[in-house]
Amino acid sequence: MKFDDIVPVRYVDDALLILDQTRLPGEEVYIGMETKEDVWDAIFKLKVRGAPAIGVAAAWGLYISVRNLQAETAADFAVQVKEVADYLNSSRPTAVNLSWALKRMVKTMEDYLEGCDAAPGNDEERKIHWTKEVLKAEARRIHEEDVAACKAMGEHGLSLLKPGMGILTHCNAGTIATAKYGTCLAPLYLGHEKGYGFKVFADETRPLLQGARLTSWELNRAGIDVTLICDNMASIVMKNGWIDAIVVGCDRMAANGDGANKIGTSGVAILAKEYGIPFYMFVPTSTIDLDTPTGDEIVIEQRNGEEIYKMWYEKPMAPEGIKTYNPAFDVTDHKYITAVVTEKGVVYPPYDVNLRKLFE
Ligand code: MRU
Repeated sequence: MKFDDIVPVRYVDDALLILDQTRLPGEEVYIGMETKEDVWDAIFKLKVRGAPAIGVAAAWGLYISVRNLQAETAADFAVQVKEVADYLNSSRPTAVNLSWALKRMVKTMEDYLEGCDAAPGNDEERKIHWTKEVLKAEARRIHEEDVAACKAMGEHGLSLLKPGMGILTHCNAGTIATAKYGTCLAPLYLGHEKGYGFKVFADETRPLLQGARLTSWELNRAGIDVTLICDNMASIVMKNGWIDAIVVGCDRMAANGDGANKIGTSGVAILAKEYGIPFYMFVPTSTIDLDTPTGDEIVIEQRNGEEIYKMWYEKPMAPEGIKTYNPAFDVTDHKYITAVVTEKGVVYPPYDVNLRKLFE
């Protein structure tokens, strides 16, 4: 199958490579990351995007940004690592995987150094050397765990779907939004392998066109039947009876099950309720943020309004300097979510109780 040959983040021969998703579908180009500024810029400009892929890129990005740092003591080195982590964390606010991965890297470093203090004997240079190795191993673990989580979500998600179903998706939560396989597209690949014959509808996903440029490209290249529609056509395909299930990803799920995802997702969920179509949100546990009680507390990224009327056009499609409003995400209220698919299984309401059980 033609989807696992392309991944958004590679670490090979000590080089961190990012698939530049701003150049898709025209060009499949990997760019090398050398500095923390390269990594920050790649995340900010959506060269690497999708919550899990951002987390994986940030973990490797932290390692490559600190691997050549010098310090007098391991404690000084740790301070510098934390500064780089804070800097990378400022690149995008909504997807929790960014802060989740960076926090995990920093915590692993701190635990290791605490262990060193308990068993003295290493000189500072040696401690710094091994701290770097520990960071590298943790980045690899975060990467590999995401591959496994996506594979498991594919299996759990497929249990909700039947051969021949019409499926609508919004944005891109596919293989290039994760370490591999995708979250909500993973069951589609798995079903395709088993001959399920899904008919997928991909919302174009304005303004950055992740559905058009990325999802339709990804599915088409894997040989899955995919039809591209504009966002405002979601209602008619549901009314036509062409959609049996809706699958979407998530950038941050609050403790009560409210889920932030690409702008436009909440509208699709509300329509799904009207038409009686199940709405499934695919959320690895790395995207569940129990520290955020409800969707109201999720910070929504605001982006430059020129993305709406200039970015994809030869000439501006609105008067120069027009007032714009360009939130990158919206929050789908938990009451519209039929089930949450995680790598640990399918979770049903009440989400405020059942999501928490995943972490027990
Ligand atoms: O702005 P993006 O392209 O990073 O937004 C991506 C999404 O909203 C995805 O649906 C989400 O991150 C889940 S990816 C598995």
